[in-house]
Amino acid sequence: MQKKLLIIEDEKSVAKQLRWGLNKEYEITIAADAEKAIPFLASGIFPVATLDLGLPPYPDTPEQGFKLLEKIAVLAPHTKVIVITGNAEENNAIKAIGLGATDFCAKPLDLTVLKIILARTFQIHALEEANRHPITSQCGSLAGMLGISPAIKKVFKRLEHASKTDYPVLITGNTGTGKELAAQAVHTLSSRNKNKLVTINCGAIPENLLESELFGHEKGAFTGATSRKTGKFEQADQGTIFLDEIGELPLPLQVKLLRVLQESTIERLGGTNTIQLDVRILAATNINLEQAAREGLFREDLFYRLNVIPLTIPDLKERPEDILLLAHNFLQEESQNLGRGQLSFSPSALMALTSHHWPGNVRELQNRIRRALGTTLDKVITPTDLGFEERALSASQRNQKLSTLKEARETAEENVVRQALTLCNNNISQAAKLLETSRPTLHDLIKKHAINISQ
Ligand SMILES: Nc1ncnc2c1ncn2[C@@H]1O[C@H](COP(=O)(O)OP(=O)(O)OP(=O)(O)O)[C@@H](O)[C@H]1O
Ligand SMILES: [Mg+2]
Repeated sequence: MQKKLLIIEDEKSVAKQLRWGLNKEYEITIAADAEKAIPFLASGIFPVATLDLGLPPYPDTPEQGFKLLEKIAVLAPHTKVIVITGNAEENNAIKAIGLGATDFCAKPLDLTVLKIILARTFQIHALEEANRHPITSQCGSLAGMLGISPAIKKVFKRLEHASKTDYPVLITGNTGTGKELAAQAVHTLSSRNKNKLVTINCGAIPENLLESELFGHEKGAFTGATSRKTGKFEQADQGTIFLDEIGELPLPLQVKLLRVLQESTIERLGGTNTIQLDVRILAATNINLEQAAREGLFREDLFYRLNVIPLTIPDLKERPEDILLLAHNFLQEESQNLGRGQLSFSPSALMALTSHHWPGNVRELQNRIRRALGTTLDKVITPTDLGFEERALSASQRNQKLSTLKEARETAEENVVRQALTLCNNNISQAAKLLETSRPTLHDLIKKHAINISQ
């Protein structure tokens, strides 16, 4: 995998030159100003960033660059920053180093020199990383799952613990919360990651085919079984099987699955051999299995067997701190896939994103961003592109009391304060700095929104 490099540079020609010169060695992300850089930095996934000190709105002075450097020290303390300065600005470079930059490189850029500095800086980062406690769950991502909210960090912690064991994990959560991604993360972080993760969606396969899909069949086991076929369990031997939508598993197959769990063996359909397997079992569902068990729709004994480690992924609205981080990441990812360059959200789009209640969770967020890129060729994404205004004008909503703008502002304000506090581990001074406000104002906002900062 290529190393990730964040380039914070407003001059398009320089950004282009850097991308061209460095994209063989590094996976490059470009942010054209401080505002766009912040979510990337907060994601914690960039070991190294280059920072042009002269950023908008005052590209001729280093002030914006210095400000951002101070924020990086709070937001992404492990990210190493190489400052890009004008040739005759040694003093600025020295001040930048004083503010925490690792090194500097003068403009006009000499790529050979920059490459040497980059290689060394990545090396320093790697060494420091190896020395740090390997607590991945404190970063903004875990094996592909992004998040900075306290709620998702709890999930990361459980997930890390789960991955160190071989017990079954039952992943629950509403639609689109990230259950499948969580299952992939458990496998990736486990010692089985050199072997396969085999996924089967129990709800998507007709009942009469599901048994053979799971356990395989011998030649002639049924009409049409013209050759022997290995099932998903056998394919997952030494690895992990992920039984998605386990609540849809028909009762007769629940009995068979229970036996597999008890005995770690399977028999192919129409076969007589018992095959010993070593498979780790993960399952997911968006229905309440315990209740289904009480109603006789799901075997209680199987539920307990699967639910050894329960892992619940919270709804997106319960982790508002993650919304903008995910939104910026999806936007960047999609625009890169489509070769659309650097895109951003308008302020009202940001407000709409933070005040929406997300019934479809992360998947809805991802779809809205895809939809926006399919709707507009503009560089700035508006609420309409994200499909918000039509909702606002829907008949049912028009009948609701019209306090929405004020409410939306309040929600957005609360979310942004919560997000800053989370990023700064509830350190008021740092959070105030990040929000570019004073400590007393931040205290007032905390009081106003009844935010608990004691934990
Ligand atoms: N924390 C996250 N970070 C990054 N991407 C995420 C995160 N959570 C979910 N996604 C993305 O959102 C989409 C939906 O996630 P996923 O398919 O894992 O959800 P699910 O709970 O299995 O949904 P469903 O109930 O519909 O099966 C995927 O594209 C996934 O990559
Ligand atoms: Mg799923």
